[in-house]
Amino acid sequence: MTDDPLFALRPWESPEVTSWGRLPMNAVDRRARALSLDGDWRFQLLPAPTAEAGDDWSSARVPGAWTLQDTDDLPWYTNVRMPWPDFPPASPAANPTGVYEREVDVPADWAGRRIVLQVGAAESVLLVHVDGRPVGISKDSHLAGEFDLSDLVGPGTSATVRLTVVKWSDATHIEDQDQWWHGGVTRSVLLYSTDPLYLADITVRAPASGELRVDCRVRNAGGALPEGWYVTGEIDGQLLLQDAEFDRANAEDDRVSDFLGEPRLGAHVSDVRTWTAETPELYDLTVRLHRADGTVADTAYQRVGFRDVEIVGRDLLVNGERIYVRGVNRHDFHPLTGRTVSYDDMRADLALLKRFGFNAIRTAHYPNDPTLYDLADELGLYVVDEADIESHDHAHEIADDPRYLNAFVDRVSRMVLRDRNHPSIIIWSLGNESDYGANHDAAAGWLRRHDPTRPLQYEGAAKLGWADPAVASDIACPMYAPLEDCVTHALSGEQTKPLIQCEYSHAMGNSNGTLADHWAAIESTPGLQGGFIWEFWDHGILQCVNSGRPLGRSGAGLYDNGVAAPGLRWAYGGDFGETIHDGAFIADGVVLPDGTPKPVMYEHREIAAPVRLGAFRHEGLVVANHQCFRGLDWLAATWELALADGRTLTAPAELPDLRPGETAAVPLPFELPADGGEAWLTLRVTTAGDEPWAPRGTEICTPQLLLRAAPDASEAAVAGPRVTVDADGLLVHPLLTSAPVLSLWRAPTDNDELGGMAARWQDWGLDTLVRKAVDVRRDGGSVTVLAEYAANAGVIRHEQVFTPVRGGIRVEESVGLPDAYADVARVGSVFETVSGLDLLEWFGQGPWESYPDRAAGAPVGHHSAPVDSLFTPYLRPQESGGRHGVRQFRLSAPDATGLSVVLDRPRQVSVTRFRAEDLAAATHHDQLTPRPGCVVHIDAAHRGLGTASCGPDTFPSYLLQPGTHRWAWTLRTL
Ligand code: GAL
Ligand code: MG
Repeated sequence: MTDDPLFALRPWESPEVTSWGRLPMNAVDRRARALSLDGDWRFQLLPAPTAEAGDDWSSARVPGAWTLQDTDDLPWYTNVRMPWPDFPPASPAANPTGVYEREVDVPADWAGRRIVLQVGAAESVLLVHVDGRPVGISKDSHLAGEFDLSDLVGPGTSATVRLTVVKWSDATHIEDQDQWWHGGVTRSVLLYSTDPLYLADITVRAPASGELRVDCRVRNAGGALPEGWYVTGEIDGQLLLQDAEFDRANAEDDRVSDFLGEPRLGAHVSDVRTWTAETPELYDLTVRLHRADGTVADTAYQRVGFRDVEIVGRDLLVNGERIYVRGVNRHDFHPLTGRTVSYDDMRADLALLKRFGFNAIRTAHYPNDPTLYDLADELGLYVVDEADIESHDHAHEIADDPRYLNAFVDRVSRMVLRDRNHPSIIIWSLGNESDYGANHDAAAGWLRRHDPTRPLQYEGAAKLGWADPAVASDIACPMYAPLEDCVTHALSGEQTKPLIQCEYSHAMGNSNGTLADHWAAIESTPGLQGGFIWEFWDHGILQCVNSGRPLGRSGAGLYDNGVAAPGLRWAYGGDFGETIHDGAFIADGVVLPDGTPKPVMYEHREIAAPVRLGAFRHEGLVVANHQCFRGLDWLAATWELALADGRTLTAPAELPDLRPGETAAVPLPFELPADGGEAWLTLRVTTAGDEPWAPRGTEICTPQLLLRAAPDASEAAVAGPRVTVDADGLLVHPLLTSAPVLSLWRAPTDNDELGGMAARWQDWGLDTLVRKAVDVRRDGGSVTVLAEYAANAGVIRHEQVFTPVRGGIRVEESVGLPDAYADVARVGSVFETVSGLDLLEWFGQGPWESYPDRAAGAPVGHHSAPVDSLFTPYLRPQESGGRHGVRQFRLSAPDATGLSVVLDRPRQVSVTRFRAEDLAAATHHDQLTPRPGCVVHIDAAHRGLGTASCGPDTFPSYLLQPGTHRWAWTLRTL
């Protein structure tokens, strides 16, 4: 092996070696006409790259991570920390190395043709051999490597292709992204052939003016170009011709285009339908390379979108319009196959994002699978395409390390060379969390020269100052910046660049508090244009609890609605026995590992609503089109009027014909009934026809207006049945198995844990409040119970007054929260019911989970749901299932028996099968046993969720203050 030139280079510890024998990256997509080499390959896993392969083969699936197949090398999660101590550029001696091998039958009719092997992705160093002969080396785990095999394989014969994949290397130090570590060939492998005379590359420029330009690179295998070749093209039937003027200018310039093989095609497309994320209009471009006799030697196909991107002042414009970036960060992820994702997986991801109002993706933190960009072009999503550079743990050393200079330029340039023809890509990103150094500026320099048509961003450079003229960022793209800092900057007069956060609103567990507040500020502050939520996926891997092994592809169908089948769980950091890891920090997405939307998705959908509703001079309504490029004709709507007395009236709605940004007054669709109490008007907006990303009738948004507030209500005491309390002052009621007592704690969310609140609550003893010293007084029909709760920062007094009212009991509660308990999780009461009350119906916000600072997407109405469905299975069990603004609710059995509760005013309520301590004690869902009855929380006040697991906590207005809290509710038997 040591005499093999590829191994002799020791490419796993040579950052200067980014490739060897690899073809230049290009934008000609050969996938559709290639021979797929996907499938099972012979496989063996060696302990180090220098170990010799033996005869002991098993098999492994390509594409796929071996860490999710039948090997002893399992997934490993770290965020910032490298999984081993070696300093860059070194890698550890124990270095799993996969050897993949298979025979490839080269088609006989490829005789005389140029033959190319493409390996879609390999983590992290790829060495290629054919029939034992060295072919090449490639690095960059998220871009393809291509190798010319023309001289190595014989058409009509079979060749043995060997791919040696070294897991850890110098390159790992610049692939230190916050995700699972895997090894393997994670994207497709294929073989294709071309004529010796071929299109080596095409560059499409398609501005909104319709002035199309296609620059081609023509090459002839192994020699000078033959006489007389030319190129032609066609876009949606319109002919493109070789630009003779361009050829002449090149020739006069001493650049003989015939020799260089760099012709230009041009055309003016009139009445061009421009591309935007709202209107993803695509044209089909075909480029043909002809021999002198007119026959076609090569053809390239490309879908083209005509659009402009520019920064004017501090605004990012698409086709001249200031857009909002409603983005999310997306990793290539699947709970069974890791970073290997199929066309269907990606289409489902993007369709889901579109259905929930997202219009942008940052490909955190590497170029995604090539299909992703095709789909973004087609479905309409703006993309920030990010290079595969993150040196987080050693950022400072590497940014200026000349040994890595080549790798920085290589990774940025190859991304651009692959992706630049996609209209969806509006911004390039140099990578993530790698400090800022000369290596970045080198890459930025290449990029600006090569593609002057798009802005470029890099958070590490933006960190110097949002208005800093640093060459490596045209966008002020901070991560997790406090909202007030963004607003202050935008109002300062100092702003020079669009402010679009590359990451904000960290979606770990039950999170994304204050998202609506962010968007209220963004939409009302010139200079703020949006951002990218962190992140799309919860990266849980489906794992067998007993064996500890990942299920890989055999797990298909073994989960539903975010829940893993019995005996299985969603693994996070540490679950594969990793020695150092970062736990559940890997689970911070807006969808669960199987793509089930978390409640925040509905919040986002409403915040992004294309149609808005406002009140107009007390008697009318205003409907507004909040899109940038589209009318409302693709939408249908229905009016709904929800009345507190239980009625919901509906009426068809006619959406006005509005251009983007326009508003129109419309009459009230209903005569408001004189009775019925509080009244809410909702415009339920759906797709009018099939969209490529949503069938007809898909709900898009539900803007809502309060038409009439609730009248003041008080319940008269009656001489009813006596209220019974036991010797401890606890309410005795046939439907309650546990009487209402004070609750000041919730099962800590990830934000509570990582933000330090959970530790404080525990220090105060709020998780183990001890009820004592009870005083019970009777006054007529009423019973007053005074209880004291012992906790570490002082006794807390809680009073309950139980009064018989018509059909039930009114409970009036108050608590005096001493000053020491600033910022508790909740103030309220908790009780438990008998089993069998399995249906919850409520008038309040819903139907999805909502919290005080995440309640913009849950309209007020009459909702109902099985109790078991109310709870969101966040990966690490935590507070979940809350419903905000609940006015009244009923819990009933199938025979309609049960209880109802009417609240004094809208309150936070939750009904689940779990006590807070059940959730707090579990690390995964398989450890939880649902209680047969219901655990019901009624909160006078509930703390906001915030995003403190990474970034700002909730706003002060969502925090709970010490002092007196009062709440009241009426309990009745149905
Ligand atoms: C950012 C980083 C992401 C991820 C996130 C926290 O700092 O860019 O990759 O680690 O924080 O989940
Ligand atoms: Mg990082």
